Amino acid sequence: MNKIIAANWKNNGDKEFIKKYFDYFLKNIKIKNNIKIIFFPPDIYIDYFYNFIKKPNFYVGGQDLVCNSDNSTLTGGTRSEMFVDNGCEYILVGHSEKRIYESGIFDNKNISYKLKNINNLKVVFCIGEEILDRENNNTNNILISQLNDLLLNYNNINNIIVAYEPVWAIGTGKIPSNTEISKTHEFIKNFIIEKFPSLKEKDIMILYGGSVNSKNASTILKLNHVDGVLVGGASLDAIEFAKICNIEL
Ligand code: PGA
Repeated sequence: MNKIIAANWKNNGDKEFIKKYFDYFLKNIKIKNNIKIIFFPPDIYIDYFYNFIKKPNFYVGGQDLVCNSDNSTLTGGTRSEMFVDNGCEYILVGHSEKRIYESGIFDNKNISYKLKNINNLKVVFCIGEEILDRENNNTNNILISQLNDLLLNYNNINNIIVAYEPVWAIGTGKIPSNTEISKTHEFIKNFIIEKFPSLKEKDIMILYGGSVNSKNASTILKLNHVDGVLVGGASLDAIEFAKICNIEL
């Protein structure tokens, strides 16, 4: 079974940190054919980072703000070709920490602005409910509305990986129960299959993100309907992240 283990470095690290990190990580990692390891470093370090990870099964991705090639007048934007030129195969879109500052990220115009015609990068699209949504039993409705915003504007479904990240679980040490994670992933897959009936469950990849560490990763990775993990804080510690990547699956 193929799984993805992704590292979201957010805005952490510098050249010295990256070098030290890979000095340890590369010596201690066992590369396995059934696991893809994707790093999302800060965009400005992608090129530097890429030199360390030119290995089979290792990939690098951008963190946003991606735009398509028609758009050459977006200050602060990076065209998808530029990410590709620097070795990227993935782009992380819609992370809750960015949604706060880009209130329109789930607004139709904004999504299409960013993703229209972007077919050269795989999109890792983050969705997830706030604590109040959970408490009000509204999680599934929120996930549907977030997925609809994406799918109405970008229907290259074969290019999408969904990251289910409950906002209340990010960086808090709290995570949903194993049953909840598995059921929510199943719900997301069923929703996508309803929209794209030719798809089978195995065609859709859903990662879980939010307080994943080397202690809980093995259980989470083995849950039904879970195709991988998106790791924030723990991916910045080379020892922790090597342990997660070395889990036998
Ligand atoms: P965390 O972050 O693992 O530190 O909770 C996950 C994320 O923000 O993607």
